[in-house]
Amino acid sequence: MTQSLSAGASQLSVNAPSYVKNKKLITWVGQMAALTQPDQIVWCDGSQEEYNRLCEQLVAAGTFKKLNDAKRPNSFLACSDPSDVARVEDRTFICSEKKEDAGPTNNWMAPAEMRQTLQPLFEGCMKGRTMYVVPFSMGPLGSPIAHIGIELSDSAYVAVNMRIMTRMGKAVFDVLGEDGEFVPCVHTVGAPLEAGQADVKWPCSKTKYIVHYPATREIWSYGSGYGGNALLGKKCFALRIASNMGRDQGWLAEHMLILGVTNPEGKKYHVAAAFPSACGKTNFAMLIPPAGFDGWKVTTIGDDIAWIKPGADGKLRAINPEAGYFGVAPGTNFLTNPNCMASLDKDVIFTNVALTDDGDVWWEGMSDAPAHAIDWQGNEWTPAIAKETGAKAAHPNARFTVAATNNPALDSAWDDPEGVVIDAFIFGGRRSTTVPLVTEARNWVEGVYMAATMGSETTAAAAGQMGVVRRDPFAMLPFMGYNMSDYFQHWLSLGEKLAGSGAQLPKIYTTNWFRKGDDGKFVWPGYGENMRVLKWMIDRIEGKGQGSEHLMGVSPSYDALTWTGLDFNQDQFQSVISIDKSAWQAEMKLHAELFDQLAYHLPAELSATKAKIEAQLEQLV
Ligand code: GTP
Ligand code: SPV
Ligand code: MN
Repeated sequence: MTQSLSAGASQLSVNAPSYVKNKKLITWVGQMAALTQPDQIVWCDGSQEEYNRLCEQLVAAGTFKKLNDAKRPNSFLACSDPSDVARVEDRTFICSEKKEDAGPTNNWMAPAEMRQTLQPLFEGCMKGRTMYVVPFSMGPLGSPIAHIGIELSDSAYVAVNMRIMTRMGKAVFDVLGEDGEFVPCVHTVGAPLEAGQADVKWPCSKTKYIVHYPATREIWSYGSGYGGNALLGKKCFALRIASNMGRDQGWLAEHMLILGVTNPEGKKYHVAAAFPSACGKTNFAMLIPPAGFDGWKVTTIGDDIAWIKPGADGKLRAINPEAGYFGVAPGTNFLTNPNCMASLDKDVIFTNVALTDDGDVWWEGMSDAPAHAIDWQGNEWTPAIAKETGAKAAHPNARFTVAATNNPALDSAWDDPEGVVIDAFIFGGRRSTTVPLVTEARNWVEGVYMAATMGSETTAAAAGQMGVVRRDPFAMLPFMGYNMSDYFQHWLSLGEKLAGSGAQLPKIYTTNWFRKGDDGKFVWPGYGENMRVLKWMIDRIEGKGQGSEHLMGVSPSYDALTWTGLDFNQDQFQSVISIDKSAWQAEMKLHAELFDQLAYHLPAELSATKAKIEAQLEQLV
């Protein structure tokens, strides 16, 4: 049962359910209630009944539209305020004591100063609203690698999304016990309601702060209701705060999918892949092998975040700390990602897609356009209007929220607290030019170099300009919770430690699915066809798989890939695998700029690797 209590005339009682035993938690909720002054406090228990009730409430408030139950059972559409559609990187702060510890890639403010800034904003920020106490576990409940968070939020949308995205509910309090540790996460949409004031469908504030205090492992989020800004278990906890935990405790928190791939002989491998936001993680994690790959199978462990810990045997084991997918809708269809489409059959929360006349959803790239729809901003939409005005039916960063258990390709070990042993890492940016389809690093340091210097074109996942190449080290630029150069060193040190234990280190690859031809179109067919590249990686792990060495590692020859079932000729292959001297001379200038920016604590091995590549580039004809 969920417990709630209305505010008394003066002081709101916390009224924790009797099964909540953690004194620190109860005290903290009391302090936060006194600060934010909600009308009532609701302790979420994670039950289906509670989920249904909150969804009904969101429908009544106009935030949710219930979709046609015959077409999309138990599913809803939320459309956000047009100003609140993506992560806000320029409003995201790492508040370590020392600026150097946040590093040059993060916004920084001293903790005391930030607390002073936030104090007046949070004071009374939940007036007229309900404070939901959302208990969640990142990772399997009670697992030694899992960590608990409690999010206090004045958004029911956040509460229901958190129920899908995390292990959320009453059982978390049992794990927490009387004196267990949790990461306190405070979230407000920053839109208090004065007495009698009507609410809007998507409350939010022009002022936004996404704030992390690494030393005290706290998260404070103000002003946004969207995705990574508001579902605090995800980027704020599982990446920014967890990267700090990982540095202190010797493990890794990464922006990576985790997949299992089984060959026709039944041998299984596990791969973790870091692609920047909206660059293909969900797609790759759910890949269906194409024609010519009979007997091969890909299964999903995670689609966005990996927590990776070295075992006593020197092997790296990875878990997915999440329990659901908050995935990009546009571009997803039955050809590009059938498993994803099947996952979206029922029990889905869609955000910022279009509503069709039959009460279903549509987005660009899903299927033939409907003759008429209501776009994500509530306007009439037809193909003719789109042609005339360029109006999108769905926002380019429109998303779905769905439980992992909806995925037909879910790996049987996805929930295993032990995690899966990683055989290879992949780092892949979105680059129209320059970067080859696939390269294998010859050693750990070279792999770390390639990951550290990765560039990618910006996408709609973050507010700001799209399509500009920026360095996105390890696909972690927006998610690093401490100094980027210290993080590079953490990876290098981990490699040394693992090598010292005599274990086989995972291989490291870089990929680029996104090179374009003169016609501006992608040359590589991508999606399921990425299996051809994945198979080459596995061949390499097995000591097979032809390749030739070049500047940064080893890339396959045309004959080394399996082409059965795909019409892709030598010339086309050449145009996605080739290395152009002048393009790489320009690229190395960008690496140099990055290293200048990251000079403080930059590991010497990385500068040495850069010098080696530059020397080889000189020799290239
Ligand atoms: P986040 O959830 O933002 O971290 O993103 P993600 O990495 O999971 O991205 P996702 O898999 O959802 O892909 C985002 C966009 O990239 C979609 O529009 C896809 O259609 C497109 N995409 C994915 N894989 C490929 C590919 O192999 N080739 C091409 N050309 N596009 C792809
Ligand atoms: C990303 O931007 O990388 C995401 C979506 O996975 S969000 O949860 O909004 O950060
Ligand atoms: Mn992501």
